[in-house]
Amino acid sequence: MNDNLTPAIDIRGLTKTYGTGALAFQALKGVDLRVDQGEFMMLVGPSGSGKTTLLSILGCVLTPTDGEARLYGEALHGKKESDLPRLRLEYIGFIFQGHNLMNALSAEENIAVPLELRGYSHRAALTEAREVLTAVGLKDKFKKRPDELSGGQRQRVAVARAVAGRPPLILADEPTASLDAESGMQVTQLLKSLCAERGHTVVCVTHDNRIFHLADRTVHIEDGRIVPAPAVH
Ligand SMILES: Nc1ncnc2c1ncn2[C@@H]1O[C@H](COP(=O)(O)OP(=O)(O)OP(=O)(O)O)[C@@H](O)[C@H]1O
Ligand SMILES: [Mg+2]
Repeated sequence: MNDNLTPAIDIRGLTKTYGTGALAFQALKGVDLRVDQGEFMMLVGPSGSGKTTLLSILGCVLTPTDGEARLYGEALHGKKESDLPRLRLEYIGFIFQGHNLMNALSAEENIAVPLELRGYSHRAALTEAREVLTAVGLKDKFKKRPDELSGGQRQRVAVARAVAGRPPLILADEPTASLDAESGMQVTQLLKSLCAERGHTVVCVTHDNRIFHLADRTVHIEDGRIVPAPAVH
């Protein structure tokens, strides 16, 4: 079930409860969400509303408590924690708030090393790393370490790392939070065009209303539930 009509994300009645007993906290309270293949969706909501929790379930980092979640037709509900790494490798590329690059490694190594862990040969990993770095406009920075790059360039390496190996779903948690307005806009535009070109689906958590207009769709979450867009005042 992996044709173009199968939704990239299909979530029904999804809940997530952290902890148990008196300490239990329900962070997701019944989320329904469908995202089509190739869509660029932004997920917006106040602090503590459940954005990272939802992204973590989609990213196969956390298992849901109840409800159904499918990635490209494959069920995440009912899976064991030990199944998650395989699913993560198959489906997901992550971009974090900070760039999360390894400082001791060059830009190309930061991308190639995880690919080798996924089974690429050294040569194939390096070829793919250079291809995605070229695609994000860093053709002349293959050998630079993160501390030799600007903030915007580091986040472009992070974008390149996420799309390397072509995982179908890219998840970004506030990718522009550590950037100035101009670089934030550039990185988001790059993420959008690169993913459209390569056919990735994107879910991007953001507070940054300057980049909302780049989304195909903006989904709002409040207190663990998807809500209609708040009225603009
Ligand atoms: N590991 C955990 N154990 C217990 N409660 C948690 C845990 N992680 C998150 N929570 C709670 O779940 C709720 C949702 O957290 P989440 O991190 O998903 O919010 P968020 O929307 O990403 O917020 P922010 O914008 O601040 O990043 C919060 O009330 C938080 O305190
Ligand atoms: Mg968060």
